[in-house]
Amino acid sequence: MRKRVIAGNWKMNKTPSETRQFLESVKDRICSAESDVYVFPPLISIPEAVSILKETDVIVGAQNFYYEEKGAFTGEVSADMLIDSGVKAVIIGHSERRDIFGEDDRLINLKLKRAVEKGLTPVLCCGESLEIRESGKTTEFIEGQIRKAFEGLSAEDAGKCIVAYEPIWAIGTGKTATSDQAEEICGSVRNTIKELYGETVSENMSVLYGGSMNAGNAAELVSCENIDGGLIGSASLKDEFADIVKV
Ligand code: PGA
Repeated sequence: MRKRVIAGNWKMNKTPSETRQFLESVKDRICSAESDVYVFPPLISIPEAVSILKETDVIVGAQNFYYEEKGAFTGEVSADMLIDSGVKAVIIGHSERRDIFGEDDRLINLKLKRAVEKGLTPVLCCGESLEIRESGKTTEFIEGQIRKAFEGLSAEDAGKCIVAYEPIWAIGTGKTATSDQAEEICGSVRNTIKELYGETVSENMSVLYGGSMNAGNAAELVSCENIDGGLIGSASLKDEFADIVKV
């Protein structure tokens, strides 16, 4: 059966010394037998996180990487560089990368393929804008994002991925999707994966919800049949993250 995943996306928050301070104070409380716990600090804070969490089961991930092996790509880091630093997972296709940094479906697909090939666990994000939700086209839109991201991936490789459904209108707004809304789209993500790769891959894939998840709403969200955990932004920067891990 699929395992629950609780993942903290710190975004551009916490310097290396803030990372040390925070993780020293919560590290014993963010370990869980029931869940796989991930933290995704900013790149520069990753070595601190890896060193503090080395004797725990908490997995350290990166928020981004570039799919090329090496070379003239100023400002970028490769999968091998991350792996050599102790990184085991990577977020791909977050709406902030898509919208602020112009990442398109083609780039996201290349990153997804490379991450899996290198042995990094990808957390692939999808999510609709408020405009798309209001137009009633959310399901088709998310299905399109998933199909484009997984193009060319084998069933075996798809089985190594985690998907996070994060409606853009719920990210950082304090406006969480209702558990019915989140369950509906997480279920349709699983259905798309089933159409692409069959029942075994779809039933084993962890599908997360993200968007203003916190200690108050996490239990209800993760109790839904198709929601296997959360990708948590602002609440993962605080002590509250330890409470979410325990839900
Ligand atoms: P939020 O962010 O929890 O602050 O809404 C979630 C995310 O963007 O991953």
